[in-house]
Amino acid sequence: MGAIKLENVEKWFGDLQVIKGVDLDIPDGEFVVFVGPSGCGKSTLLRMIGGLEETSRGAIVIDGRDVTAEPPARRGLTMVFQSYALYPHMSVRDNMGFSLKTAGAPKSEIEQKVNEAARVLKLEPFLDRRPKALSGGQRQRVAIGRSIVRDPTAFLFDEPLSNLDAALRVEMRYEVAKLHQSLKATMIYVTHDQIEAMTLADRIVVLEFGKIAQVGTPRELYERPANLFVAQFIGSPKMNVMPCRTDAGRYHLEGGRGGVYDGDHEAVQVGVRPEHIRLTEPGQGACDAKVDVLEYLGADTFVIADGGPLGQITVRTEDERGLQPGQALGLEFPAEYLHFFDEAGLAVHRG
Ligand SMILES: Nc1ncnc2c1ncn2[C@@H]1O[C@H](COP(=O)(O)OP(=O)(O)OP(=O)(O)O)[C@@H](O)[C@H]1O
Ligand SMILES: [Mg+2]
Repeated sequence: MGAIKLENVEKWFGDLQVIKGVDLDIPDGEFVVFVGPSGCGKSTLLRMIGGLEETSRGAIVIDGRDVTAEPPARRGLTMVFQSYALYPHMSVRDNMGFSLKTAGAPKSEIEQKVNEAARVLKLEPFLDRRPKALSGGQRQRVAIGRSIVRDPTAFLFDEPLSNLDAALRVEMRYEVAKLHQSLKATMIYVTHDQIEAMTLADRIVVLEFGKIAQVGTPRELYERPANLFVAQFIGSPKMNVMPCRTDAGRYHLEGGRGGVYDGDHEAVQVGVRPEHIRLTEPGQGACDAKVDVLEYLGADTFVIADGGPLGQITVRTEDERGLQPGQALGLEFPAEYLHFFDEAGLAVHRG
């Protein structure tokens, strides 16, 4: 079991409050990802759950038991970090079994658990090697293996893949997903990587200055961001946001045209994702813009356009042929993909 509940937890470093009252209910077996800008408190919150950082106020409850005052060893969790710090003089086998050995587990049990972890992580061919004879991805797998052998109630990962090169990250992302499928254990995973967050998470927690900005499935956050912060944080390239005015069933863009608005609340900003904008002739669509830069990526192209008073507008298109820097365009914003925000940055309507 590994149900984890945070009840209005706060963290103060002296006078500085870095976690500002977080409530979160994680059912057993869920894969939760923490994302947010650097310094927003992701690692601190994870370390509080693990018991490596004291909780100033509020409670942490694991499987119905209040563990707020308990040391890490009594919480039954395990942490995997970016730096895997393996013992260089020990074999992979001994690195993985070390914590069980120091805990006084019988040899046969250590052997059985190490073998099982090695099987799950496909480390069997490397069990007798030293860490220096492994690739970065293999070393990170050994670090995860060290955690698995302890049968934790939950795994806490703090950017475990961020030291790896791009290709290895993709491979390890797949391994982590498979690991969750086979262990079905609760996992809390901190990352900066959008793709990791979107692909691994059952639910994503977006943190902003020590508070939860929104919790939801990747699809909910992408399709129905609750506020401007989440709207611009989830999705790459990020959502275009432009000032607007709404009245009598229409939204108006400065220096542009606008379109239909059937929301009830007054909105002051409209957002549209780069992949949802369609290119058309100048004078048509919601506004006009001029091609500034074309970023060709193979499968698609980012058209960075100058929207005049609307600022820079990024369009993602699959066919950039015929486009030239300086060229005038019309931009069509399909009504069903528009996000409207009020003065306070809260989402008030979605097309
Ligand atoms: N021991 C400490 N004493 C004082 N302030 C701290 C301490 N540890 C962290 N902080 C502050 O708490 C805030 C949150 O830090 P934290 O490491 O949790 O951020 P993070 O979201 O993990 O950032 P990153 O993405 O850069 O890893 C930061 O402003 C940081 O400076
Ligand atoms: Mg961190």
